[in-house]
Amino acid sequence: MKDINLPSNSMMLSKDFLFGVATSSFQIEGDRKGRLDCIWDTFCEKSGAISDATNGDVACDHVALWKEDVALIDDLGVDAYRLSISWPRVMMEDGTVNEVGMQFYVNLVNDIVKHGMKVFVTLYHWDLPQHLEDNGGWLNRDTAYAFEKYAEAVAIALGDKVYSYATLNEPFCSAYLGYEAGIHAPGKTGMANGRKAAHHLLLAHGLALKVLNRLSPKSQNGIVLNFSNCHTTTSSEEDKHAAKLADDYHNQWYLKPIIEGRYPDVIDMLDADSQPEILDGDMDIISQSIDYLGINYYTRTLYQSDGNGWFEIVPPSTNKLTAMGWEITPDAFSELLVDLHKRYNLPPIYITENGAAMDDVLCNDEVIDDERTAYFHTHLNAVNEAIEKGVDIRGYFAWSLMDNFEWALGYSKRFGIVYVDYETQKRTLKQSALAYSKLVKSRINGY
Ligand code: NOJ
Repeated sequence: MKDINLPSNSMMLSKDFLFGVATSSFQIEGDRKGRLDCIWDTFCEKSGAISDATNGDVACDHVALWKEDVALIDDLGVDAYRLSISWPRVMMEDGTVNEVGMQFYVNLVNDIVKHGMKVFVTLYHWDLPQHLEDNGGWLNRDTAYAFEKYAEAVAIALGDKVYSYATLNEPFCSAYLGYEAGIHAPGKTGMANGRKAAHHLLLAHGLALKVLNRLSPKSQNGIVLNFSNCHTTTSSEEDKHAAKLADDYHNQWYLKPIIEGRYPDVIDMLDADSQPEILDGDMDIISQSIDYLGINYYTRTLYQSDGNGWFEIVPPSTNKLTAMGWEITPDAFSELLVDLHKRYNLPPIYITENGAAMDDVLCNDEVIDDERTAYFHTHLNAVNEAIEKGVDIRGYFAWSLMDNFEWALGYSKRFGIVYVDYETQKRTLKQSALAYSKLVKSRINGY
């Protein structure tokens, strides 16, 4: 078995650094009957939207198997589990709480705490109730206020049993992939839609953060953003400029408003009708201070100029790729962390997702996923390097605990450190899970 090693004097081996695993509600829960429909249920019914024509009706059947899953997480020896709450499971259409749905999370959180682990809860990991989408979804400002009410209900039910709340997971994906590129639910397109959705998502973040700080002040309350370094394949000034625009448009668009209360300059390049409507006071709500920033990182992205003063993607050519076709670029990971640290006055950081899809084969009850283990090894060392360069990073979550519904790619891509047989729902620890667990457990003797 391949190992994951960190330098023996690494801060990450101290007991204060948290190691965890992460999942999200729609990707693992199943039990569609126990909740309202969400935009992903609808999207899955659209022909051609999901590459293997699957859906989230059963997924990993986690609503039935949650106790076993929590025990499995505990066996790994990790300190924390990051999960998300399904908004359509806990709220009814009339805005009242679905007590049965909420009780599911109360039981889940209690059990995780009972096992001695910290709970990281994300309020929005993309499963918007369909009835809200029917009224415009994230294009409608009212959705941000519905989110505020939902946040309130969760904070009342779970309070500070939850160590850390994240308002949103990767608003870039919700806004850009869902409302601008149309490859995620709800499948809308156009720059004006994407930018409007992004603004309402950020507003929702700010409104919910206020609620969390009021009702659960002892929790660490923040947001999870994804970043992908924008690199070029040439050193031409035009391409470098294009990559800078891409970075502003896809990455900084979400961070700068939160930390500095304004959108990056690229906003001024957009036509007036593509710019979001920003009402008085919005940027103050968005830029309240966060206790931590969650960073999800998978790969860098290559860009070039499109010849018209804008940017376009260049497909990767040199590095090794994961099953997603994403380059394996650990050096870019430490570069990104150091760069963000230098550019902004950031709160402490948690790496809330990092991992890789690989073409796993289950054979004799084993999955020898050496490439995934190597990915974790190099990326954990990249985190270590960033810490050594002064970045305040407090924890790391492997994406994902187990194979699950990988959005528009259905069940065809496996990110888990635990293999899921979708026919039997049997979970099998991959070699990467054994290696991760070994590293985590080695800390008792380390540092
Ligand atoms: C980020 C998302 O948060 C998660 O849901 C997804 O499965 C991973 N990226 C991998 O694509």
